[in-house]
Amino acid sequence: MKDRYGRTIDYMRVSITDRCDLRCRYCMPEGCEKVSMSQILTYEEIVRICKVASELGISRIKITGGEPFVRLGCTDLIRSIKAVEGIEEVTVTTNGQTLERYIDELKDIGIDGINISLDTLDPERYTYITGGGEIEKTMKSIESAVRSGIRTKINCLLQKGFNEDELFSFAELAFRLGIDVRFIEMMPVGAADAGTGISNTVVLRKLMEKWPDLEPDRNVHGNGPAVYYKRPGKEGGIGLISAIHGKFCEYCNRVRLTSQGQLKPCLSFDTGTDLITALKGTDDELKEAIRKAIYEKPKAHSFTDTENNDIHAEHRLMSQIGG
Ligand code: 5AD
Ligand code: SF4
Repeated sequence: MKDRYGRTIDYMRVSITDRCDLRCRYCMPEGCEKVSMSQILTYEEIVRICKVASELGISRIKITGGEPFVRLGCTDLIRSIKAVEGIEEVTVTTNGQTLERYIDELKDIGIDGINISLDTLDPERYTYITGGGEIEKTMKSIESAVRSGIRTKINCLLQKGFNEDELFSFAELAFRLGIDVRFIEMMPVGAADAGTGISNTVVLRKLMEKWPDLEPDRNVHGNGPAVYYKRPGKEGGIGLISAIHGKFCEYCNRVRLTSQGQLKPCLSFDTGTDLITALKGTDDELKEAIRKAIYEKPKAHSFTDTENNDIHAEHRLMSQIGG
């Protein structure tokens, strides 16, 4: 369906847990509060929301978290959502720590894509930034995902003074594995400070200096707002998700469902529609609640609006609202 600004909204990111087996410093710092299981949507409720949302034109679902694979039965949920009429694509975002063991099952389910978060290729840095993760596990998952033929992408958040020197290594990894690596600009959500991030304008300039043959790739690579670059004759691509320096709200196609059942129309605001009450009613009532939330989606994010930034700014952690 279209929102009041005429944007087609056909993509829903579904956070199935706020928990994670890692503690990335900008996302889920040590000691953050956990939500109890009784407060989070059951899989039946999530599938019901997807069904009703599909009748409103949501055709693509991203399963996210926290870390989705820490919730028991995550693959069963993916299978159920894949079976919903009108849902054309189901993808998942994961840190890849335990992914390897699910690859065969995901292949069997027919998952349409896996995005793996990886901010550094250095084992020590990895353990530091993730608060204890082991890079070997994620690297194995990436290799296994690529081998399986499932569309695999790597998401990398570059930070000043931490991993900015790894830009070319990540680009080389994309060309070597023949997959997309996307550089995401740090957004000021929860524990994150956008000031620590690197502008994708700088990233692109550095990449162009090193590989002058890089050219924009207009083929669509997924649901997101990434702009892609390719080198002639090379398989992998570089995606730039420039939420701050290349505001793309005009083309936004998404809403987010938090694990606690709030439908959030925009990442940057703390506003949203609580679907818990609507879930107690009929499908038509639920549909109306979702329709209204989508229709009233804000025009744009407020990340760069320094005067009004506090009005409804989102202060919850990224892990709580779905990264
Ligand atoms: N800004 C941008 N991306 C973020 N992520 C987590 N927090 C932020 C933030 N503040 C990303 C992670 C991961 C995905 C789940 O969300 O790097 O790739
Ligand atoms: Fe977990 Fe991803 Fe957040 Fe890291 S960024 S703590 S892996 S949810």
